Amino acid sequence: MSMESVFSPSSQSIPFTNNTRVAVIGASGYGGIQMIRGLIDHPNFDIAYLGGERSAGKRWSEICPFLPLDHDPVVQTPNAEIISQQADYAVLSLPNGFACQIVPDLLKHNVRVIDLSADYRYNSLDQWKHVYVKESNLHERQDKELCKEAIYGLPEWNALSISKARLVASPGCFPTTSLLALLPFLKQGLIETEGLIIDAKTGTSGGGRSPKENLLLSEASESISPYGVIGHRHTSEIEEQASEVAGRRINLQFTPHLIPMVRGLLATVYGRLRDPGLTAEDCTTVLKTFYSHQPCIDVLPVGVYPATKWVRQTNKALMSVQVDSRTGGIVLMSVVDNLIKGQAGQAIQCLNLMAGYNQETGLNIKGFYP
Ligand SMILES: NC(=O)c1ccc[n+]([C@@H]2O[C@H](COP(=O)([O-])OP(=O)(O)OC[C@H]3O[C@@H](n4cnc5c(N)ncnc54)[C@H](OP(=O)(O)O)[C@@H]3O)[C@@H](O)[C@H]2O)c1
Repeated sequence: MSMESVFSPSSQSIPFTNNTRVAVIGASGYGGIQMIRGLIDHPNFDIAYLGGERSAGKRWSEICPFLPLDHDPVVQTPNAEIISQQADYAVLSLPNGFACQIVPDLLKHNVRVIDLSADYRYNSLDQWKHVYVKESNLHERQDKELCKEAIYGLPEWNALSISKARLVASPGCFPTTSLLALLPFLKQGLIETEGLIIDAKTGTSGGGRSPKENLLLSEASESISPYGVIGHRHTSEIEEQASEVAGRRINLQFTPHLIPMVRGLLATVYGRLRDPGLTAEDCTTVLKTFYSHQPCIDVLPVGVYPATKWVRQTNKALMSVQVDSRTGGIVLMSVVDNLIKGQAGQAIQCLNLMAGYNQETGLNIKGFYP
């Protein structure tokens, strides 16, 4: 990508560019930094605006001296009108409850939006208020129509709708990892819709950059612990998407665990096959067939199980499946880098679709190892 067109910090003027202009709001956070890293590598996008709150007024080099941008832009307090003068797209990487405070204005100003938070992941605003109680008290929302309009940004399932969308709600990292493995079996009716269990593990970057006690090195290292047991907020998000694909209401168990690594997410999904005669080879064929034309998904051979290290820094989801013929149980294993395929990389995949490029353009999909 050419960085010649990045705005000058003093004038903040709109650069001339042939590339698609993207604003990154929440630039200083983990998602924002990954997004900027991805956009620097992208041949068709320019970083046109950086937004933030505590970081507003700072030069980018003060925040990320290790990731220089031409002209060393200044982070700004987000303003929809100014963003619309400088960018065609805005990616919002903000804590829950903040995107909805600016998205209606951005859309009014014809800026297409990808939101990485949960603000638009539910079709129903009431459902969001029910799940995100604390955040719903921050600000009165009047955008229930936008909740209905937003497209769930799972490109392997919603590519056409994403390509036309004004507003894309990027999925959570646990939902991305779990749904990619589970949905093909629900779609084909191969798996019982009751009794599904998702056991997931994530690294500490899943909690974002702002300080939290349980993410201190002395707390998280050399330890593994469940959190959000019964009622983690991603449960309802997974259930909503799974129910839509299955065509019937699904309630499932989801338990996340924090493990002592920085990035990476493993979801192991347990279910029961409707036809206990199906083998691991059959089920692997199902996954392979579903994703045969999907550049960001690889399905491993039977008996090879995915490791988070194999997808680190990439926009790849890697999965495999095993069957227990004694019990009729199916075990789906899926890994992603939570900050890339689980967050910013998937958002770039969506941006590519919205702007008319191949979905994998500019994204790393080959592993870095070890
Ligand atoms: N981390 C993951 O693995 C992951 C995966 C999928 C989705 N997500 C979701 O993605 C979103 C971002 O997550 P993250 O982990 O990147 O968070 P993070 O590291 O905590 O970053 C949050 C960003 O939001 C900015 N911000 C906070 N309040 C703001 C406001 N009022 N106006 C403008 N900017 C504001 C902060 O900027 P300042 O520093 O300037 O205050 C910071 O840049 C969250 O909704 C999260 O749930 C995260």
